Amino acid sequence: MIKKCLFPAAGYGTRFLPATKAMPKEMLAVVNKPLIQYGVEEALEAGLTEISIVTGRGKRALEDHFDISYELEHQIKGTDKEKYLVGIRKLIDECSFSYTRQTEMKGLGHAILSGRPLIGNEAFAVVLADDLCVNPGGDGVLEQMVKLHKQYKCSIVAIQEVPADQTHKYGVIAGEEIKPGLFRVTDMVEKPKPEDAPSNLAIIGRYILTPDIFEKIEQTEPGKGGEIQITDALMKQAAEGNVLAYKFKGTRFDCGGAAGYVEATNFCFEHFYKEL
Ligand code: UTP
Repeated sequence: MIKKCLFPAAGYGTRFLPATKAMPKEMLAVVNKPLIQYGVEEALEAGLTEISIVTGRGKRALEDHFDISYELEHQIKGTDKEKYLVGIRKLIDECSFSYTRQTEMKGLGHAILSGRPLIGNEAFAVVLADDLCVNPGGDGVLEQMVKLHKQYKCSIVAIQEVPADQTHKYGVIAGEEIKPGLFRVTDMVEKPKPEDAPSNLAIIGRYILTPDIFEKIEQTEPGKGGEIQITDALMKQAAEGNVLAYKFKGTRFDCGGAAGYVEATNFCFEHFYKEL
């Protein structure tokens, strides 16, 4: 049973400057809710209650968000504004939160390795909160992946089809389709040019990882841009036949950039906020 979910949230968020100069990217609000809260709600829905967050300098707002604000609670008690706090109260009640800091931003692989003391020796999920994933009326993306992990017991990456001119933004997989939408990964290339991409199937910010990934990250040399890429470590697991790629049901918005963020805002306003 997977219980833990790791949120690497130490990055600089340079695509969203100046908003991210003094505020974590993960605290950017889509309508009235920060990105990280959407991610933790998705984790809880999948039964993951132990939330671990890898933070960095200037990220304290994340910790404050998942804590009780007594003054605020006192102020709005009994008013119609209480409805806005129902969601965050549920997370604070039902999840535990632990934090560690990544002191040098040496890439996603390194951020995940920084979370090792919080995870230990068990399979865990990873959510990149700037990828906002929704599936109204159906299972959330993590829930879909947790169900698959129960069956296959290996690492799983979420993938989606992207246009050829977008492959340079993602890790791209090659694999054998073992059932519709599910691939056993045979190759992965980080941020390939369209002519070098092994497919149009791009990895997005949802992973389930088995704990041997930590040793594999330790054995990984820094790749493009001096960063330790999770793709390189996953490739080592894939060489042992232990990585599946799953074409999830739902929609993903890249909220690390302005265009995806605006799309997500419109979508969430229509589908979630109006119901409040
Ligand atoms: P991104 O590359 O999307 O995030 O990393 P970034 O570096 O913050 O954004 P830009 O490209 O400069 O705008 C994906 C995820 O990995 C985390 C980020 O916080 C983000 O959630 N990350 C990345 C870390 O935690 N540490 C790192 O060293 C790098």
